Amino acid sequence: MSIEKVVIPVAGLGTRLLPATKSQPKEMLPVGRKPVVQYVVEEMIHQGLKKFLFITGRNKRSIEDHFDRDMELTERLTESGNAELLEELDYEAEGVDFFYTRQSIRLGWKTPAGLGDAVASAKDFVGRESFVVALGDSIIKSGAYSGLVQRLIASHVRHGSCCTIAVCSVPHDEVHRYGIVKPKGRLGSDFEIEDIIEKPPENEAPSRFAVAARYVFNPEIFTALEHTAPGAGGELQLTDAIRILLKMGHTVRCLKLKNDETRYDIGNPESYFRAFMDFALADPKYGYLIRQYLQKKLREI
Ligand code: UTP
Repeated sequence: MSIEKVVIPVAGLGTRLLPATKSQPKEMLPVGRKPVVQYVVEEMIHQGLKKFLFITGRNKRSIEDHFDRDMELTERLTESGNAELLEELDYEAEGVDFFYTRQSIRLGWKTPAGLGDAVASAKDFVGRESFVVALGDSIIKSGAYSGLVQRLIASHVRHGSCCTIAVCSVPHDEVHRYGIVKPKGRLGSDFEIEDIIEKPPENEAPSRFAVAARYVFNPEIFTALEHTAPGAGGELQLTDAIRILLKMGHTVRCLKLKNDETRYDIGNPESYFRAFMDFALADPKYGYLIRQYLQKKLREI
């Protein structure tokens, strides 16, 4: 089974990053030289995914503009000898298609109803195929080539799972920020789970393995989403829909990130600053200068 569809939810309000996100999507904030969501798209293209559905919302137009051709700008850059500045955004040669749909505000709600509701908007696009979900505000950085999504797909197919989730270990005092899984049986790098809890208090967390922004689903997730009630924060949580899959008797497995893979969730100021610094320091052209600057600054403190 080959999986070529990926759903990228980008409809959240990004309130934790206000005021930066008042009128621009958090997914368009730069990390180093590129907006966050461009890293996500490139990671997916490198791993063979071809059909992208962005779940957008209010104030998210700039994401569509970013991935659309701008002939005027291309011509201007070509004339000034700088055509390479936009080359990496030309995905046509890769045979990639971008689609957009809006997460409409549900009747009786004032804001988007949550990640579960966003994924539910992908039902028609997905049809009867398995698909990947990659959160638009999270980068997976790898030392070499990241094959995380390919590993997720391979495990999904091999075990006949209904859902396969990337997870990474987080400190005890951070479990309340994430969906945390409860492993079933023996723990390896690829393990089955018996439960998953969204943002548990530290003393109720069943492990320290947190969902790491990449998933593979069978279309059964849409049935589970139809039965999902508002959960943590009053939102329709994707985690709660996965819990329903487990109750329905489906297999859900997790794959641990490898040691050289790091998940950057840029959703709060501290993690955003960290991501920006790491990428700026690793920049092939400016990293050296930034390191010198930082060393000087730190000596002054
Ligand atoms: P978050 O859980 O970080 O939520 O979203 P948020 O609403 O964007 O941010 P805060 O909590 O207000 O600061 C994780 C990913 O899911 C998308 C977001 O755009 C982000 O990429 N999302 C979240 C949706 O598409 N729809 C939603 O209703 C919620």
